[in-house]
Amino acid sequence: MNVYDAERMEELLGADGMTRAESQDDADLVVLNTCHIREKAAEKVYSEIGRIRKKGEKSGRKAMVAVAGCVAQAEGEEIARRAPSVDVIVGPQAYHRLPAMTRTAAAGTRAVDTDLPTLAKFKALGTARRARPSSFLTIQEGCDKFCTYCVVPYTRGAEVSRPADILLEEARKLADGGAREIVLLGQNVNAYRDEHGVGFGDLIGRVAAIHGIERIRYTTSHPADMTDELIAAHGEIQALMPYLHLPVQSGSDRVLKAMNRSHTAESYSDTIAALRRVRPDIAISGDFIVGFPGETEAEFEETLKIVDATRYAQAYSFKYSPRPGTPAATMDTQIAELVKAERLERLQSALNAQQIRFNQNSVGLCVNVLIERPGKREGQVVGKSPWLQSVHFDAEGAAIGDIVAVEIESAGPNSLAGRRRMSDDRTGRGQVA
Ligand code: 5AD
Ligand code: SF4
Repeated sequence: MNVYDAERMEELLGADGMTRAESQDDADLVVLNTCHIREKAAEKVYSEIGRIRKKGEKSGRKAMVAVAGCVAQAEGEEIARRAPSVDVIVGPQAYHRLPAMTRTAAAGTRAVDTDLPTLAKFKALGTARRARPSSFLTIQEGCDKFCTYCVVPYTRGAEVSRPADILLEEARKLADGGAREIVLLGQNVNAYRDEHGVGFGDLIGRVAAIHGIERIRYTTSHPADMTDELIAAHGEIQALMPYLHLPVQSGSDRVLKAMNRSHTAESYSDTIAALRRVRPDIAISGDFIVGFPGETEAEFEETLKIVDATRYAQAYSFKYSPRPGTPAATMDTQIAELVKAERLERLQSALNAQQIRFNQNSVGLCVNVLIERPGKREGQVVGKSPWLQSVHFDAEGAAIGDIVAVEIESAGPNSLAGRRRMSDDRTGRGQVA
């Protein structure tokens, strides 16, 4: 979602007469779009501000600095105190006001806005966008789940769903502009329900019906909102790609309860089994936290067990990071850093092995690839398989935005390589033969 936000900020500032600088040295304005989800991400902001300031002092050319995103939302006052050189502080729901704020700052007053007017923001942004072969579409923002470790409900605010008719208009414009794939975005995307009662499965069906849209993905989902209707959609809607990012966080029911996750290890596994019944080739990805306060060795091993049972295609895993203002940060059973590091290493080695196995199983298959960008070598392009694997191959006449059949010849941990099989271009979904 930060990529989406950054693009929208660039569009807004572009409409206000600014152009993208070739490099940071040429910039009159530097916007740092920030993440507050873990401490490491948040701390980066201060070192980056320091670096920009030093650069400005050296060259004698001082760029205006704006801090946007969730660090701005959560630590606005602290930023102003720790980094007085910052000119603009704007939260994730107020960035439609960024052009006006830069004018205030240019007149010599620091501009700060951490309001949460989510729908007003989207209204101000409009639906005109630059399309890419795979384009993001934010359909929902914020979260009402309040997992005890997480800052999102505080930084992004309450759950807000954008009206379906406006989303469909935006999706149609993206398709007209050349988008072949739409990635529906939200912090809790499958909790989507607009004010007229349009639910998430329904919305996916309507986006799939748009001429030119061949692929749909969505992220990120909560296991508790994987309704029967949504699971069925994975079997019924041709354009819905066989890939789902479904964070489980832990395999221990006690830890899940302490995290205020409203699912259990068993209900999660049941959901995965139901998805595999309707779409046997679906690739599953997940998020994990190790070392949540009070997590015992036996409870951590339950996480390894669920990894074993789920067989992930891809995953993100993190050491628990205490976040100010969240209930878990003040629990008195914090886990030692060394224990967290050791558990993370064990978990990641299991997940990496699964990811490699998943990719190796693609060798010899012929798969449809949506070409997204040029590759490193002359004539080479990079695209995505239905299972979200990056695939490198020689274009042999195909262009960015095309969907072509590629025979997979080799697999690495993070990508595949192959050769076009022209006779099979554009036949069927997923695997061709
Ligand atoms: N510490 C570590 N990981 C976290 N996440 C969210 N909050 C924290 C935290 N305090 C992880 C979760 C979530 C992903 C986006 O980030 O796994 O799904
Ligand atoms: Fe954070 Fe996701 Fe939990 Fe919401 S559902 S509080 S975004 S981890």
